[in-house]
Amino acid sequence: MQTSSLAALKEHALHCARSAGKLSLARMSEPFTVEYKTSASDLVTAVDKEVEKHVIDLILAQYPDHGILGEERTFAGDPSQYETLWVIDPIDGTTNFVHQQINFSVSIAVYHKGEGLVGAVYDPSRDELFYAVKGEGAFLNDRPLRLERHVRLEEALLCTSVFWNKRAEQMGIDQIVKKLAGKVRGMRLLGSAALEMAYVAAGRLDGYVSLSLNAWDFGAGRIIVEEAGGRVTSMAGTPLPFDQKSSVMACNPAFYEELQHYLNLSESHG
Ligand code: IPD
Ligand code: CA
Ligand code: CA
Ligand code: CA
Repeated sequence: MQTSSLAALKEHALHCARSAGKLSLARMSEPFTVEYKTSASDLVTAVDKEVEKHVIDLILAQYPDHGILGEERTFAGDPSQYETLWVIDPIDGTTNFVHQQINFSVSIAVYHKGEGLVGAVYDPSRDELFYAVKGEGAFLNDRPLRLERHVRLEEALLCTSVFWNKRAEQMGIDQIVKKLAGKVRGMRLLGSAALEMAYVAAGRLDGYVSLSLNAWDFGAGRIIVEEAGGRVTSMAGTPLPFDQKSSVMACNPAFYEELQHYLNLSESHG
C-alpha cells in the first residue's frame, strides 16, 4: 500500500473510532434496550448495533470496495471475500457500558491480505485514542508509546480473565494462573479486551492474557502493542489470526518467554 493511501486510511480509521465512541457516549444518557445473546452474561444493546451500522456506513462511504468483519454482523457482504478487511468491535466491554458507563471502547483495525495496517482503540469516557500504523509506531492521542522499560515478571501488573473461565478449570490452567498470580506484582481485570491491550502498549499494564477472544476483540490491540514494542501471540506462541478466534497473550517483551512457559505448563492449547 502506498504511503499516501496508508495515511488516508489511518485518518479515516481514527475518524471512525472517535465518531463511534462519541455516539455511544451520547446514547448512554438515553434509555436503550438490552438483550441477552447466549446467556444473562452475554449482553447486546441497541447501541452496539447502531454504532456498528454507523461505522460501516462511514467506512463504505470512503472505501466502497472494502469488507467489514464486525461483532454484530451488520455488514451485508461476506467478509472472507475482501482483500482489505476492517475488523471492528463497536462497543468492546458491553457489560461495562451497561453497568459502569466507563471502561468500554471502540476497536477498529484494518488488515490488507491478512497484514495489520492500522489499529485504533478509542475510550470515549476518557477521550483517549490509542492507535498505531504498521511500521510507524503506536500513539496515545499524540504521544508516542514505546515499551522501553525492562519489566521482570515479578514486577509485572498482569491482566487476565483466565481465572474465571470454566474451560481453564477443565484444562487445569486456572491453577497455573493462580501460581502466576502469586509471582507477579498484581492482577487486574478491566472488562474490555481492546482497552486492556491498549493499556499494555501504554505500559499501564505489563501483560494481558485471554483463553479465547474473537478477531474483533484483539484486531486493533495487537497492532498497537506490537508497534509499541510489545509481543503478541496466542498462548501457544503462534502468530494471531486476523479473522478467527484465538487465545491471546500480549506483554512487555522482557518476560514474554517466561510468561509463555508458565501458560504452557498445562496441556497444549491454541
Ligand atoms: C468482551 C470483552 C471482555 C472479554 C470478552 C469479550 P464484548 O467483548 O472484550 O473483556 O473478556 O471475551 O467478549 O462482548 O463486550 O464486545
Ligand atoms: Ca459482545
Ligand atoms: Ca469485544
Ligand atoms: Ca462488542
